[in-house]
Amino acid sequence: MVPFDPDATLLKIFTDPETISDPYPLYAELREHAPIFKTELVGRWVFTRFDDARALLRDPRCGSGAGLTDERVSLDGTKRKVRSGTLPMLMLNPPDHTRVRGLVARSFTPRRVEKLRPEVEQMCDDLLADLGGEGDFVGSVAFPLPANVISALVGVPAEDREYLRPLIYDLTVGIEQTASPEDLAAAEVSGAKLTEYLQDLVARRRAEPQDDLLSGLIQAAGGEDMLTESEVLVNTSLIYAAGFETTTHLLGNAVRQLVAHPDQLELLRNDRSLIPQAIEEVLRYDPPVQVDGRHVFEDIEIGGVTIPAGSST
Ligand code: HEM
Repeated sequence: MVPFDPDATLLKIFTDPETISDPYPLYAELREHAPIFKTELVGRWVFTRFDDARALLRDPRCGSGAGLTDERVSLDGTKRKVRSGTLPMLMLNPPDHTRVRGLVARSFTPRRVEKLRPEVEQMCDDLLADLGGEGDFVGSVAFPLPANVISALVGVPAEDREYLRPLIYDLTVGIEQTASPEDLAAAEVSGAKLTEYLQDLVARRRAEPQDDLLSGLIQAAGGEDMLTESEVLVNTSLIYAAGFETTTHLLGNAVRQLVAHPDQLELLRNDRSLIPQAIEEVLRYDPPVQVDGRHVFEDIEIGGVTIPAGSST
């Protein structure tokens, strides 16, 4: 019998278009034959079972490795420069993470999101009306909606949102494991344009604050402590990068799964109170984010395997 090769399986999951659209049978093989292994592809430890992954992600001895190295190796061996300078909160560890997240949370509140409801409902109605009952749901609705919602949240004027959308798109493609050197170059250029735009908007909001997230981030204070200008900029870009593609794919996956499961669609049509539950189920069943990682700061033991300090997962 040919021995199971977890690296070949992993490579297929990330690079073979057919597998990307349905990786679940290969995930099952990995869970069965290779629950925890160190991949030779990028030298990282891989955890394929839910309980082990959850233990790792929640372990306080693990965190972000950003800032420890200035390059990151993609699955195809491509090396990419890791961001330097002010890091967004996603790349920080406590106590820096705790400080920035606390300041951001003062302004990024459920109340602020709830206030957007009428505007978001209007955006959905308009995009669905343009789609006209059939067509490319991802291109016409799932793609423009999240970028416009985040722009509304941040406080980007409606007339500037078209300009920002392709920039945000380039930025998120640049985060993918499979990003090509051209993608990375486009992400760099678009990231710089987005920062330039936001710098100008920060200056305008500083002069004349509005009831929007950006004004809130500029003013957010915990005692004497406030976010610096570059912290405001990198964390606003993070909110775009983190909130845009994830939601686009959630919407696309949800529609795809409902079309594939007409009985579930029927249930939702008859009882809209099931919608929040259905969204949770799509996030579990066919999630938009399928990989996450940690740097291991101290030796840890998970699933009977010791992962040495200094490892990446
Ligand atoms: C279906 C939608 C979404 C999914 C699946 C998702 C998933 C994730 C994941 C996996 C992480 C990393 C968690 C970790 O490593 O511990 C994360 C972090 C983050 N996400 Fe999302 N996300 C979604 C939507 C959003 C939206 C809409 C926003 C903002 C508008 C957002 C903002 C953030 C931020 C700011 C972080 C960093 C949090 C921190 O470092 O404390 N995400 N998200």
